[in-house]
Amino acid sequence: MARPTSMAETKLPFSALSVVLLSLLLPFLGSALTAGGSILSPFPRQYQSKYGEVAAAVGANNIILNPRFEDGLKNWSAKGCRVELHESMADGKIVPQSGKLFVSATDRTETWNGIEQELTGRVQREVAYGVTAIARIYGNVTAATLQLTLWVQEQDRREEYISIASLQVTDKDWVQLQGEFLLNGFPSRVIIYFEGPPAGTDILINSLIVQHAAKMPSSARPVFQDPPFDVNVIENSNLDDGTTAGWFALGNCLLTVERGSPYVLPPMARDSLGPHESLSSQYMRVTNRTESWMGPAQIVTDKLRVYLTYQVSAWVRISHGGTTGPQFVNAALGVDGQWINGGEVEVNDGNWHEIGGSFRLEKQPSNAMVYVQGPASGVDLMVAGLQIFAVNRKARFSYLRKQADKIRKRDVVLKFSGSGLSNSSVSVKQMQNSFPLGSCITRTSLDNENFVKFLTDNFNWAVFENEMKWSWTEPQQGTFNYKEADEMLDFCKTHNLKVRGHCIFWEMEYAIQSWVRSLNESSLTNAVENRLYNLLTRYKGKFDHYDVNNEMLHGSFYQGRLGYDIRAHMFRTAHQLDPLAALFVNDYHIEDGSDVGSTPEKYIKQVLDLREQGAQIGGIGVQGHIEVPVGSIVSSAFDKLGTLGLPVWITELDVSSANEFIRAEDLEVMLREAFAHPAVEGVVLWGFWELYMSRKNAHLVNANGKINQAGKRFLSLKKEWLSQANGGITEQGEFKFRGFHGTYDVEIVSSSSQRISKTFIIDKGYSPLVVSIDLM
Ligand SMILES: *[C@@H]1O[C@H](CO)[C@@H](O)[C@H](O)[C@H]1NC(C)=O
Ligand SMILES: *[C@@H]1O[C@H](CO)[C@@H](O)[C@H](O)[C@H]1NC(C)=O
Ligand SMILES: *[C@@H]1O[C@H](CO)[C@@H](O)[C@H](O)[C@H]1NC(C)=O
Ligand SMILES: *[C@@H]1O[C@H](CO)[C@@H](O)[C@H](O)[C@H]1NC(C)=O
Ligand SMILES: *[C@@H]1O[C@H](CO)[C@@H](O)[C@H](O)[C@H]1NC(C)=O
Repeated sequence: MARPTSMAETKLPFSALSVVLLSLLLPFLGSALTAGGSILSPFPRQYQSKYGEVAAAVGANNIILNPRFEDGLKNWSAKGCRVELHESMADGKIVPQSGKLFVSATDRTETWNGIEQELTGRVQREVAYGVTAIARIYGNVTAATLQLTLWVQEQDRREEYISIASLQVTDKDWVQLQGEFLLNGFPSRVIIYFEGPPAGTDILINSLIVQHAAKMPSSARPVFQDPPFDVNVIENSNLDDGTTAGWFALGNCLLTVERGSPYVLPPMARDSLGPHESLSSQYMRVTNRTESWMGPAQIVTDKLRVYLTYQVSAWVRISHGGTTGPQFVNAALGVDGQWINGGEVEVNDGNWHEIGGSFRLEKQPSNAMVYVQGPASGVDLMVAGLQIFAVNRKARFSYLRKQADKIRKRDVVLKFSGSGLSNSSVSVKQMQNSFPLGSCITRTSLDNENFVKFLTDNFNWAVFENEMKWSWTEPQQGTFNYKEADEMLDFCKTHNLKVRGHCIFWEMEYAIQSWVRSLNESSLTNAVENRLYNLLTRYKGKFDHYDVNNEMLHGSFYQGRLGYDIRAHMFRTAHQLDPLAALFVNDYHIEDGSDVGSTPEKYIKQVLDLREQGAQIGGIGVQGHIEVPVGSIVSSAFDKLGTLGLPVWITELDVSSANEFIRAEDLEVMLREAFAHPAVEGVVLWGFWELYMSRKNAHLVNANGKINQAGKRFLSLKKEWLSQANGGITEQGEFKFRGFHGTYDVEIVSSSSQRISKTFIIDKGYSPLVVSIDLM
């Protein structure tokens, strides 16, 4: 088994960070907030296993043979190293966590060395497995990342690496690794193995369990008794009596009330709340701040309800106390010892700025505090009109329905010619909505016939999760692999799916394969030219879009090494090589108000700068890996991006909640906001099938093929976006209706019961569309 790129290099989850939960250790938080000038350090999302505990508790039906090494090393083998059985190690300091024995993978000289077991014939396709291992390391490093990987060879000899689990382990204790996997193909060989720590470090395994994943109980629909929509949970938000009653100072700072803040609600709050009384124009000034976390606070424990979506909104301002540089202001929630980001904004002048954010609790808190924080010590913080209210999503949906009718529909006059028309009846039925709706696919997901059916029934666009990334197509320098991308392109062509090319480059250092990272400047320049030339000449005319250099607001690998012009150069060259492809920028946390590094304003500036340098930008990609979507915040981002006059696409949409009803609602928010916004020209989901998505609890279809609540909501929206009309033909031979853009069937039944069927297309346009249909 040769070892190409590991999944760690090719299957990288996006690095999202919005509702990162931190311990509410305030002094610690204070330093985290100022470190590196960024209010949040990008902690990778930690996925939680919903199967692991069950798997650990049960362990019956384990398909691993000799899972606790009771029969020595039987059925296990070493992978490029030695494997030894132990009762204890390190002078008795290491003993098994359970049972009498454990093994070590020793004399490891490569990170991929470890211990493996062949599972061929014991794993079924299209069944979700839960995996639990007890492991640790021993050697000359104290901590390392341990990976549990599945190597699969398909009957057509295609190889696949599935990353089951990846966890930081130490030489101090045994830890539990948990994960899940699903095979869609027809494997001829399957091997599970441990790998990852640096050479010279032993991997120690106490047990491994792989069994059918426990069935998730279906989610209960959250019930809201009399939900307090649009009611501010903040007390004395307006400081009406000129005092700070209801507020307290977090830390040793001082709160005073002053006058001169805006009379109007911040726009995103106003968009949610509608007509609203004016603010008092009184604000809180926070002085004597000696730590960045100091600011005004309120306890809101009893006011928050689980599963409601709360919008956070405030005016904030700073006064530099000799400190220079941009300051970050964050509306935060401390909930049972965890920190939740309720929105943040960069402030570097004396103006009032809007904070807009959101959060949701999935269990009743025993302690919840709201506070505003962030600027460096010595900087005065001013806060006015803080609002936290449950968002009425249903009300917003009915508004969005009307908006969508305005921009996604067109008046149509069908003009019939022919004889015997009088008293004929007409039945118009839309077959497809032409709004681009796509999904991420992987080569192996196409081996699952049910996946393919859902995909081809419901989508008209696709994007490849990894198979076109540079780390996949050239894992080692000069070793090219376009096999999967070629096969996927053929598949998409056969099924009439247009394709986004994702991505030519990716600015995040962690996403770049090691040979590229190790190049010097001149070699990297050559490698970049080769990548552009090889990819874009090979696929000229085949990808409708390209993400040219992914996540340029978050990473700067190429720009850092090759200089300011390299990004525009990538666009210019790509445009020369494939002039018809629309070249996109693509980034995350643009639309949720949670990331000061990727606000719509910063994104717009980036696009304008690139254009200035001659980059032909054809579209704006908003990834859409969102946590708690609030319509007015998302649409505010679309409004701003829309000023560029370029199509905006949601390119990687996924929403995640263990509760399928909440997930369904979050998905509905995003789809409706996109469909109702004139700047948005397409939406691509980042997958829909359980365990074939990079994000947990985001799937629309369960591993066993069952369409869950989120999937049902998606299908019902698709249905809503198909028009139908029935009626009679006028004496002038006309039939008028208004319908969504797309393809239609029309059936005419004459008075003599003769039936004639025709098809027609409604394209975009302002004036009524006249379609002549000759019935002769
Ligand atoms: C497990 O090991 C035993 C003894 O070496 C061997 O007979 C058996 O075939 C192995 N099972 C598998 C599935 O490899
Ligand atoms: C660990 O041991 C290996 C092999 O003996 C050696 O190559 C490596 O440099 C050591 N690493 C550290 C961090 O000491
Ligand atoms: C607050 O800061 C001012 C100016 O630095 C100082 O004069 C005052 O004593 C401080 N007040 C308190 C209560 O620390
Ligand atoms: C039109 O159709 C209706 C219902 O089928 C029928 O009652 C009527 O006589 C028809 N009129 C003509 C002019 O054919
Ligand atoms: C960069 O690397 C290449 C290939 O290893 C080498 O030939 C070249 O001399 C290096 N250039 C510099 C400036 O170090």
